Amino acid sequence: MSDTTNKTDGGKKAKKGKKNKEPQATLFTPMTLRGLTVRNRIWMPPMDTYSATARDGKPTTFHYQHYVSRAMGGFGMIIAEATAVSPEGRISPCDVGLWNDDQVEAWRWIVDGVKAAGAVAAVQLNHSGRKGSTGCFGVGYADQSVPVEEGGWQTVAPSPIAYGHYAMPRELSVEEIHGIVNQFRDAAGRAVAAGFQAIELHAAHGYLISQFLDPLSNERTDEYGGDLAGRMRLLVEIADAVRSVIPEDMPLLTRISATDWAAGGWDLDQTIEVSKVLKEHGVDLMDVSTGGMVPNVTVPVQPNYQVPFATQVRLAADMPTTAVGLITKPKQAAKIVAKGEADAVEIGRASLRDPYWPLRAASKLGVPVAEAPYQPQYVRGAY
Ligand SMILES: Cc1cc2nc3c(=O)[nH]c(=O)nc-3n(C[C@H](O)[C@H](O)[C@H](O)COP(=O)(O)O)c2cc1C
Repeated sequence: MSDTTNKTDGGKKAKKGKKNKEPQATLFTPMTLRGLTVRNRIWMPPMDTYSATARDGKPTTFHYQHYVSRAMGGFGMIIAEATAVSPEGRISPCDVGLWNDDQVEAWRWIVDGVKAAGAVAAVQLNHSGRKGSTGCFGVGYADQSVPVEEGGWQTVAPSPIAYGHYAMPRELSVEEIHGIVNQFRDAAGRAVAAGFQAIELHAAHGYLISQFLDPLSNERTDEYGGDLAGRMRLLVEIADAVRSVIPEDMPLLTRISATDWAAGGWDLDQTIEVSKVLKEHGVDLMDVSTGGMVPNVTVPVQPNYQVPFATQVRLAADMPTTAVGLITKPKQAAKIVAKGEADAVEIGRASLRDPYWPLRAASKLGVPVAEAPYQPQYVRGAY
């Protein structure tokens, strides 16, 4: 089963990656991408909070507290959650967005707050495709489609293939696909206007871009389907369109699932090929995750389980990567960066329970207070 093949490949190649002897940074070494320097290698990954409760795509006071507290806690880059490029591109009706100018204003104070605390403010742009129109946080329809009469919408996808028990999506026309490329471009322009310093394209976890990449969800016979070049066309066009409206010195990141953990689907080899192409199209870093395309697959979840994929992409595509997934302990994170397995680590759920994770890590790793990312006002309370 290619299920097992994927796992085995990831493991073997990771060992090769560990032999990489180039001099490496520590968690607290700044990192530069284009014209942007990030103060350290501990980043907050995008995590949807489904909390734009007015259903207008505007972030709220909650989002301000959520992101600025992690910036105060010392994270280097804060990648704001999946932010929709259109109303139909939301995962739930309560997702945040950047499809209108009111949303730009709502983001601005959050971005300013993150930057004032010394972190880099980045945003993940997303279209949910067939995985949209699901429930808001805590108000029902968790992990299922919200009917249109309850505020849901007809979802769209490369092909009319549903995700698990979700509603059947409608196949996008070529004209509509061109429209989505423009929506990403326009949302990126608004992100720049809001003050964001980096942009991440969400090409992972079974959302629209990855639905195009993946042969399991893309059965198109036109230029947006078929071979790998066809399936990656949407992502490459989006990267070009976004690059065309953001400053030359602004980094462009892409989050990708390196495998579906399923037979016949997306895998590490295709991930590496796409990464190489994206590099030629102005993408500066791959944020390497896995899964999300096929429900109910067996994923070997354990500490560092996705790190080997980040390592392989880093070596084979020769571009910076971040590793994410059950990285919870300071020494564990430090080793990943020190061994060159990834250029930075992302701390997801552990940052939800501990917004000051980087400060605690600095203490555990013996980093002097003066070199740790403390707010000056908090030095007297340092670990
Ligand atoms: C509540 C929650 C929401 C998430 N939302 C997103 C998202 O918006 N975009 C994304 O790429 N990944 C999302 N993820 C995945 C995380 O970014 C991360 O990859 C995952 O949680 C594994 O890292 P961890 O073990 O450190 O939590 C989400 C995860 C959680 C727990």
